[in-house]
Amino acid sequence: MTELPPFYDDLAGCLAEAWRRLEEGAAHQSGFHAPALATLGRDGAPRLRTVVLRGVDRERRTLRIHCDARSAKAAEIAADPRAALHAYDPKAKIQVRIEGTARLHGQDDVARAAWAASRPMSRICYGTAPGPGTPLPEGGAYTQPQDDAAVEAGFPEFRVVVLTAARLEFLYLARAGHRRASFTWDGAEPGATWLAP
Ligand SMILES: Cc1cc2nc3c(=O)[nH]c(=O)nc-3n(C[C@H](O)[C@H](O)[C@H](O)COP(=O)(O)O)c2cc1C
Repeated sequence: MTELPPFYDDLAGCLAEAWRRLEEGAAHQSGFHAPALATLGRDGAPRLRTVVLRGVDRERRTLRIHCDARSAKAAEIAADPRAALHAYDPKAKIQVRIEGTARLHGQDDVARAAWAASRPMSRICYGTAPGPGTPLPEGGAYTQPQDDAAVEAGFPEFRVVVLTAARLEFLYLARAGHRRASFTWDGAEPGATWLAP
């Protein structure tokens, strides 16, 4: 039988493992590198899409994602900041679900720092014309910046989404018995409990 991980029957250990996996996902390609971000559509229906996790701060309980100001998700967050994030690593057999409040940063210190740390390849997207989600007569009927000045001109469309976790749910799949744990934050200390899987 495979050895059980140290966090198996340790609530605090499960929470630490969740943040460690998220941090790892933000740092490089791993099972948690490209989670799904859920927002509420303007019609009240759920909207879901893959995003790249760009940064994680476990002390502040924040997750950082980048998007275009012209995208549906940016408009949805501006209208209703409730958001959720889902990641699953099939190798680790760990799922993390986060619910919280998202805040958009554009043309402020947070956005400038994130833009400065972005690779030119990533910055190109923000100069795409027309904006994301615009119907096109053909699949290729859009343009992207062709030189450095045009790439930099995309900065006004660049948005940083900072999602602050109010709840985190951890699920570990194991033959010996799954472990599911919930963590909520009303104040500084998390409320932690095991849940039936
Ligand atoms: C692997 C992968 C990573 C992606 N990363 C991002 C991202 O970091 N930010 C983003 O806005 N869209 C990203 N996308 C595209 C979104 O999934 C989505 O198609 C697009 O942003 C439009 O979403 P919206 O209309 O809900 O705003 C990514 C897609 C894939 C497949």
